[in-house]
Amino acid sequence: MEDTGHPSFSKTIVFFRQFFNLLISQWFLFIKVVGKESILIFAASKQIVEINMSETSSKASIKLDGEQVEIEIKDQTILQTLIDEGYDPPFSCTSGVCTTCMAKLTKGKVDMEVNYGLDEDEVAEGYILTCQSHPTTEEVELSYDV
Ligand code: FES
Repeated sequence: MEDTGHPSFSKTIVFFRQFFNLLISQWFLFIKVVGKESILIFAASKQIVEINMSETSSKASIKLDGEQVEIEIKDQTILQTLIDEGYDPPFSCTSGVCTTCMAKLTKGKVDMEVNYGLDEDEVAEGYILTCQSHPTTEEVELSYDV
């Protein structure tokens, strides 16, 4: 440490250095605790989502390219379930924008995660974006052939 020749100045420097070190150590302790809780909260919320999703299951009857498809939808969107089952539904962005995946819901209800492509009238008429849609009823019927 630099000797200024004044004893009270040196004591002040030492005091502030110790105080600063204490603040830094407390800050790291705070971050460690908050960070740990954040992970626990994230883990807890993920578990809640996974539990909710695994409890949801719907039978879907879907008209696609003139074919009647019967599938069970659990924790995926309608579009993703069709793809996973080996079908070839229309899609492009998978982000709720382009409307390529649009279908008309004729029975049951769905929740769309986002909808940037359909206007209120289209939604009122039953059109949905299958890349964003999760069935909320035990059965849904929809058609891509509209
Ligand atoms: S694939 Fe683009 S909105 Fe669904």
